Amino acid sequence: MEYVKIKNADRIVKDCPYVVNNPKTYKGKWNQFFQNGNPICLELGMGRGDFIIEMARKYPNINFIGLEAVDSQMVPAVQHLRNEKLANLKLICGDAMEIDQIFQKEIDTIYLTFCDPWPKKHDDKKRFTHINYLKKYDKVFKKQKHIILKTDNKGFFAYSLETLSNYWYTFKRVSLDLHHDENPISNVMTNYEKQYFKEGRPIYYVDARFEE
Ligand SMILES: C[S@@+](CC[C@H](N)C(=O)[O-])C[C@H]1O[C@@H](n2cnc3c(N)ncnc32)[C@H](O)[C@@H]1O
Repeated sequence: MEYVKIKNADRIVKDCPYVVNNPKTYKGKWNQFFQNGNPICLELGMGRGDFIIEMARKYPNINFIGLEAVDSQMVPAVQHLRNEKLANLKLICGDAMEIDQIFQKEIDTIYLTFCDPWPKKHDDKKRFTHINYLKKYDKVFKKQKHIILKTDNKGFFAYSLETLSNYWYTFKRVSLDLHHDENPISNVMTNYEKQYFKEGRPIYYVDARFEE
């Protein structure tokens, strides 16, 4: 997908104190990096960062990392964070394909929020719930695996339920309309989600776990 390019985005992102510019250095050492033993949660494809910033504000005893491939996409997050002091938040500009080079058995939860659905069959390997990605997640999760996925795309949701269950994940909670669920689910909205919510589109949600 093409995103709007922002002038000097690379420098703006690099200079932000929340951005970790050499993340591979901390592989296996992220709890040391945060200087605490708190859980670490990772959002892949955080975009403008609305979700991960709000989660970090709301849950100070959890460490949050937002990863995003496109520097221009991260600029609004960098701007929002100018007047914030959140010791439990870090951002990484990088490709989700490389997460196993950045983390090792230290992530508690992965959030997949409105990721690109890649509807064409020949693009299936790019979907964040393709088996190749699920195998990568195995390398970064601590013992328990925990994925929370939200999307507006029915086809991608159905595909993800299938790949996750074929990979022995079980579903603690599934909703076909997150914002109108009979039993409300605690939720922080992403930027895309805010737009879809305004438009009245249903949001699909799954809390998937693999517990040994
Ligand atoms: C549709 S947007 C959703 C953004 C945000 N999660 C939200 O819900 O508002 C998908 C984001 O994923 C990012 N992305 C796509 N492929 C990626 C990859 N391989 N690694 C990291 N980010 C990626 C895109 O640049 C884009 O910002």
